[in-house]
Amino acid sequence: MCGIVAFCGVKNAITPLLTGLARLEYRGYDSAGLAVIDPQAKQLRTIQRVRQEGRGMVEVLREAAAEAGLGDDSQGITCGIGHTRWATHGAPSVANAHPHCDCQGRIAVAHNGIIENHGRLREQLTAEGHTFHSQTDSEVVSHLVEKHYALQNGDLAAAVRAAVAELSGSFALAILHRDYPEALVVTRNDSPLVIGSCATGAIAASDVPALIEYTRDVCYLDDRDIAILHANGSVEYFDPAGEPYTPNTYHIDWNIKEAEKGGYPDFMLKEINEQPRVVRDVLKGRLNTQAKTLELPELAMTPDELAAIDRVYIVACGTSYHAGLIGKDLIESWARIPVEVRVASEFRYANPIISSNTLVIAITQSGETADTLEAVRLARRAGAHVVAITNVIGSRITTEAQTTIYIKANIEISVAATKTFLAQLCLLALLALFLSQERGLVNETQIVTAFEALQRLPQQIEAVLADTTSIDAAAEVCADATTVLFIGRGVGATTCYEGALKLKEISYIHAEAIAAGEIKHGTLALIDPIVATPVVAVAVASATHDKMLANIEEVKARGARVIALATEGDERVGELADIVIYLPPTYEQLSPVLASVALQLLAHRAAVLLGRDIDKPRNLAKSVTVE
Ligand code: M6R
Repeated sequence: MCGIVAFCGVKNAITPLLTGLARLEYRGYDSAGLAVIDPQAKQLRTIQRVRQEGRGMVEVLREAAAEAGLGDDSQGITCGIGHTRWATHGAPSVANAHPHCDCQGRIAVAHNGIIENHGRLREQLTAEGHTFHSQTDSEVVSHLVEKHYALQNGDLAAAVRAAVAELSGSFALAILHRDYPEALVVTRNDSPLVIGSCATGAIAASDVPALIEYTRDVCYLDDRDIAILHANGSVEYFDPAGEPYTPNTYHIDWNIKEAEKGGYPDFMLKEINEQPRVVRDVLKGRLNTQAKTLELPELAMTPDELAAIDRVYIVACGTSYHAGLIGKDLIESWARIPVEVRVASEFRYANPIISSNTLVIAITQSGETADTLEAVRLARRAGAHVVAITNVIGSRITTEAQTTIYIKANIEISVAATKTFLAQLCLLALLALFLSQERGLVNETQIVTAFEALQRLPQQIEAVLADTTSIDAAAEVCADATTVLFIGRGVGATTCYEGALKLKEISYIHAEAIAAGEIKHGTLALIDPIVATPVVAVAVASATHDKMLANIEEVKARGARVIALATEGDERVGELADIVIYLPPTYEQLSPVLASVALQLLAHRAAVLLGRDIDKPRNLAKSVTVE
């Protein structure tokens, strides 16, 4: 989704704006722009704008800005806003790129989100004499602020407040006015915005990486609140009624190195390789070795509440939804509570059966996914206890759910979720084990044994990462194919859903995952002996292993080329498959952790062979803040 950076300070604003935009590139974008006030030009103090269409545009923007006299060394320019656009309304073009100005070029606005009532507002403002220059929904905001600025006698904050009251939809907005060279106004509704102060000024952005170089202490706005960023670094916060307040401050302890490639060719490969560390961090401090009990204090539920849970819903989107599918198996196997996993965009429009004994687990790495947030609101209204599992401190979901458990994976830059997915899986395993403990279904020895299996995972992941010979060979097969099928049973099948998604999203090869027992009910027709359609079979040690072998035979007999994931020492799979990727042994319920690492590497390698843009796949965005 779009990215916003706003800086108001006493030193050059161009550097924080461009650096911030570069750090938001991971969100996916198709054009970029910035707008600044040049206070040197006193009489004709106008807003200067530079906008560029295309990807990789932040660098081009830097050059264009320098040509326009807005170089990194522009010491006189201390206040500005920047934007990376992910088109929703209007094609990617310079005219549609942000910031958007009002009729007189005195106001500039950068927007992330969707203004749902833009059509009506546009008609109304046009009838009132405003002229529009883009096809975007966003441009209505600059004209609306222009209108209210006149009505509010030049009070920018009041004008923004009045404009916001007329907007419906989701928005994070940064607003610049040429008559306010030492202040900026920002606001938001259902779109992320983070604010901080530093020695040289105040800064706001769509996500933490854009400002982490300047500050680690950040604040978040509630819906429709307004903040004024002052050049001296102070920030004033107001609720929608205009009442000032002091927000909570959150300390971000992410390492800046996490936002850099650190010698890897892309962020995805770096993040895949970080997974052993991430899993160790998820497990850290969770086992009380004296009492031999698991600890999950963030769940914040009393023993009675835990005992009363009679149904669990897991709601999530995309990769987080796949983590939920695996979580279902873990919770049902270990804690014996029925679990339904629902895609958040469906759940929010369904009529789910919820009572006060329902536990809803919302999984979202970004904490900002619009559909997941709405599903949480629905669940809370219906009386469920809602726990959020997220990676982003202070993100929107943390204010919507009753309790939050952080996966502590540190920032994930690549659009393709990898380390956050693994962290989600491990946290769900802990949660399942904890629920089982609290409901008296496991004894101390079983808890310690299961926890030890979890503790072995980081080393086992390292082993998968260390030898990629078979994975590389499998990637060559996939890179040549137009379709790849993924088959598995039980958690093997759910592992396949994620494996297929990873391959699709970064290599653009069509992939389909299916429960292996289902293949003969239709999908088998896709296996073409002429091209030897690749079939990735997750056939690790499991209760249904023999059945998986039969499924492998079935697809082989139709001419498929089989790439199997098997447990070390499994010679039977070795005899059947064309390529075998061996994985260390673990509990069946934990096998998705290891198999997913292999499938991430497979997708990555295939995408590299095809020359894809690994970290920024076409049409996709890192956080999906619109419905
Ligand atoms: O931030 P979330 O976990 O809520 O994001 C949900 C999906 O958009 C996300 O998991 C997406 O499917 C992945 N980036 C794909 O790798």
